[in-house]
Amino acid sequence: MSAPLRFDGRVVLVTGAGGGLGRAYALAFAERGASVVVNDLGGDFKGHGKSSLAADKVVEEIRAKGGKAVANYDSVEAGEKLVQTALDAFGRIDILINNAGILRDRSFTRISDEDWDIIHKVHLKGSFLVTRAAWNHMKNQKFGRIIMTSSGAGIYGNFGQANYSAAKLGLLGLANTLAVEGKKYNIHCNTIAPTAGSRLTQTIMPQDMLDAFKPEYVSPLVLWLCHESCQENSGLFEVGAGWIGKLRWERSLGAIVRQKNHPMTPEAVRNKWEKICDFDTANHPRTIQESVSMLNDVLSQIESQDVSPNPTSYSTSAFSTGFDPANAIGKKLPPITYEYTYLQPILYALGVGMSTKDPDHLKFLFEGNEEFCCLPSFGVIPAQASMFEGGLTNIPGLSFDFTKMLHGEQYLELYKPLPTSGKLTSEATVADILDKGSGAVILLDVHTYSGKDLVCYNQFSVFIVGAGGFGGKRSSEKSKVTVNPPNRPPDAVATDVTTVDQAALYRLTGDRNPLHIDPSFAALGGFKKPILHGLCSFGFAARHVLKHFANNDVTKFKAIKIRFAKPVVPGETLQTEMWKEGNRIYIQTKIKETGNIAIAGAYVDLTSTSDQPSAKQPSAKQPSAKGAGLQSDLVFQEIGRRIKEEGNQLVKKVNAIFQWNITKDEKTAVQWTIDLKNGSGELYQGPARGKADTIFTVSDEDFMDVVLGKINPQKAFMSGKLKVKGNIMLSQKLGTILQQYAKL
Ligand code: NAI
Repeated sequence: MSAPLRFDGRVVLVTGAGGGLGRAYALAFAERGASVVVNDLGGDFKGHGKSSLAADKVVEEIRAKGGKAVANYDSVEAGEKLVQTALDAFGRIDILINNAGILRDRSFTRISDEDWDIIHKVHLKGSFLVTRAAWNHMKNQKFGRIIMTSSGAGIYGNFGQANYSAAKLGLLGLANTLAVEGKKYNIHCNTIAPTAGSRLTQTIMPQDMLDAFKPEYVSPLVLWLCHESCQENSGLFEVGAGWIGKLRWERSLGAIVRQKNHPMTPEAVRNKWEKICDFDTANHPRTIQESVSMLNDVLSQIESQDVSPNPTSYSTSAFSTGFDPANAIGKKLPPITYEYTYLQPILYALGVGMSTKDPDHLKFLFEGNEEFCCLPSFGVIPAQASMFEGGLTNIPGLSFDFTKMLHGEQYLELYKPLPTSGKLTSEATVADILDKGSGAVILLDVHTYSGKDLVCYNQFSVFIVGAGGFGGKRSSEKSKVTVNPPNRPPDAVATDVTTVDQAALYRLTGDRNPLHIDPSFAALGGFKKPILHGLCSFGFAARHVLKHFANNDVTKFKAIKIRFAKPVVPGETLQTEMWKEGNRIYIQTKIKETGNIAIAGAYVDLTSTSDQPSAKQPSAKQPSAKGAGLQSDLVFQEIGRRIKEEGNQLVKKVNAIFQWNITKDEKTAVQWTIDLKNGSGELYQGPARGKADTIFTVSDEDFMDVVLGKINPQKAFMSGKLKVKGNIMLSQKLGTILQQYAKL
């Protein structure tokens, strides 16, 4: 059994302790060793008259039991005098129970000024004055415990008690601020709303209730809250009949009703009313900082809206449209330019845990290194600007709440090593929107260009909590799917400890969401501490694979797909498990300390791997890794890989051989053959070995434009950009495959 809670050496002042609840507190504290000041004015329950009898009786009771107590007969309105009694008798004041109270119940319009004032004087001002008198003593001794006595009438309202309710809830406000100001001096202030049979309740409670709700069922909570070992501060508790419950504020997630450059209107408020009042995804702010921190985010969300000024319009249509995917799919966001020097790739490398301790990291950390280069996973950085600044929610049909957005999955594919500095332009398109019931998934495809060259492609998969149920499809052929690792022990494991400042460092690469640095903001989202950016763990995993299977050669890194399964807290250890199957490295990242899987369903595709070069060298049937150094190489390689996986089905569906002549500077630079007629199909470099059914001739650039859907094949054909020989009808089948398979 744990030790009993004692109050030896502590001095307790209980106001209104001549009867009811106050008496029970005084007796209980004295019984456990405290010296008690029993204060009571001794008037009637309406605040008329005075007498020393009530206080004296309780003091006698305590002394009769061997306890220490003195009486004080002042009204709480004489705050200093009450505290002085404690100092005179016992030399200090440790604990203050603001309990004294009276009633002047009247229906609202019958409340006189006097009824109002006396209630406020005894309850609110009295508690203020006694507490103020005790405060500096508590502060100097770095210990104090204060109880404020509120009431259910204040919390919920009660007929005939407007004056009393106002004063009682005023006490909660007072307590909340004292809790904040006293915290650093170990002064804790909590509030109770008791229910007990007493003089105050005898006119409203039947006798059996008066007997059942004993004040002794309230005092144990008061004693615990006032013990030096109790760290509770700023709490509000309902207590009675042997039951105790804690109350807290609940706030709906709410809704942004203002649009940049537009007046905020009551109509917009009306249109969002349901959402404003929806507690399904509510949170529980505990401090004023937690409460207001989200407002900064609201401001930046409004600021980042890309809407043209229209101050005269009072239209609310932008907000009343809500979530309407049909309207949003295929919509493009305005292009975003990302300009950077060598500093950003270096900062990124540090952000994902690279260190000069590892000599082969130097080429990512030092711009003067001969092989200075960019980590491939840096490719998410220019693209993510589309997410943050691209005004996703301004797309008609995508009016959702940013605070409900979770980053679910990420796919990144590189077409060439990322420049170490320069200007990249990202173009984002809403590829698809899925209905997952509990939420919606938005697939945002972002293509990033250096000049005209496509450098990389990202697919952001974001989950919008609560936006599902619109009757949409559950999956999409446009989605880059996750895959499970093989069912055997991993071929390699890389372990890296993140630092406690990992997120503080990583956020400097662009994702400034306060969730990753501000404890109050993180608490709002339900996290105990700020969490690491999912894309930071993604960067760790990507570089683990790059090192283990590509010897840190960035030209070998082709693509990565991951699902964010669990958040990581900065300081935790990331353990990346890797399985090699051909050029695909399956990965899974665990948090070593908890065993939780942070990254799941993940893989990295390399163009070739460094550990088993001979066995896995490209055969005659496979395109060489380097191809002809054209943008289209990677598309063909991807097609080749898909044919290896699904060739049988394709041969059945298509039954044709296609030859591609890809030109550069008007000369054929490379030929590819897609054979979907023989065996289980294959892709190879060079002209068709048998007779090609269709031969296409197109420049590398125009090929990419077709694949990316920038020009449709018919247009390319009509304008002479795409030349077709042989069976033109068959090319339609190929077109579908190309676009589906290249997924660009
Ligand atoms: P009570 O009437 O038995 O005790 C209140 C005591 O305060 C009395 O002994 C009274 O003489 C004393 N007092 C009144 N004015 C004073 C003043 N100006 N200076 C010093 N002492 C003064 O009532 P009870 O029920 O024990 O109430 C204690 C506290 O609990 C009150 O603040 C009351 O508002 C609160 N409360 C009680 C509830 C209940 O169910 N009993 C419900 C909600 C709140």
